[in-house]
Amino acid sequence: MNNQTAENLMGSGTLWLPKAISPNAPGVDNLFYFIFWLSGIFFAVLIAVTIYLLIKYKKSDSNPLPTPSPTHNTKMELAWSIIPFILVMIIFAWGYVGWMETSIAPKGAKEIYVTGRKWFWEFNYPKEDLKVSHEMVIPVNTPIKLIMTSKDVIHSFFIPNARAKRDVLPNRYTTYWFEATEKGSFQIFCTEYCGDQHSTMLATLHVLSQEEYDEWVEKEKFGNDGLALDVLGKKLYSSQGCSGCHSIDGNNGVGPTWKGVYGETRVLVDGSSVVMDENYIRESILQPGAKVAKGFAPVMPSYAGSLKDKEISALIEYIKSLK
Ligand code: CUA
Repeated sequence: MNNQTAENLMGSGTLWLPKAISPNAPGVDNLFYFIFWLSGIFFAVLIAVTIYLLIKYKKSDSNPLPTPSPTHNTKMELAWSIIPFILVMIIFAWGYVGWMETSIAPKGAKEIYVTGRKWFWEFNYPKEDLKVSHEMVIPVNTPIKLIMTSKDVIHSFFIPNARAKRDVLPNRYTTYWFEATEKGSFQIFCTEYCGDQHSTMLATLHVLSQEEYDEWVEKEKFGNDGLALDVLGKKLYSSQGCSGCHSIDGNNGVGPTWKGVYGETRVLVDGSSVVMDENYIRESILQPGAKVAKGFAPVMPSYAGSLKDKEISALIEYIKSLK
């Protein structure tokens, strides 16, 4: 988390909630405060009545016998059923309206595909034909429609400053829209426990002016052209999340290290062995479960469809360069 995202998260909101940057935020906050104060009032009333009754009916010399307890009181039973029912229905209706409002994006909203995977976020910009990870960049004052899915387990996409939060599920799309009314950098979290590196599944939201955004698109689009393959591979190693499981220093992590492994013979879980060549690396990227190395769990998600051929070659060249 960098200084600015931390400042936006911790420093400038109220005691409870970070600074709000989306027009959706007041609706979420108001409902939050309604539930918060309602719970507070019920807590206070229940505790006060409990203490009062404890004192009033305390067994003493003047009051030695158990108080006869009534078995039935229609008025009270109706009251404690109907009042909470009305209150929870108010919360339901309020929440439902807010849920619908944040689910149905305004016409013309800018679409961004969000993919959660163990353990990073990837953002695809269909209009710009652009794919980035770890950072979501958007223009200010523009409605953004997120179309979200997961490559593996359930994740949850959360931008506290936009009050934008929705579960991200495998094999289906969930949508959410928001708009940032302020420039700056804001923290993105995964808020659904998704495995041992869940807490590192962070990303940063950068809100730029339209001109800055256009410049960023140009730079991202052409920034990778002309890079040597192993240099591009090194970039992808961090940006595609390989670094979460594969070290380049010779130590094995969740997955085998990449250092010095090219050309070596690898023993697989079924006892057979395979030479670590271009074809094996390519297969392991696209179908990680096909030939799992001995001593490792088959937990790697497939990169089929999310890496281009050139990017696979770049990763192969990068692995070769780690001697
Ligand atoms: Cu992804 Cu937690």
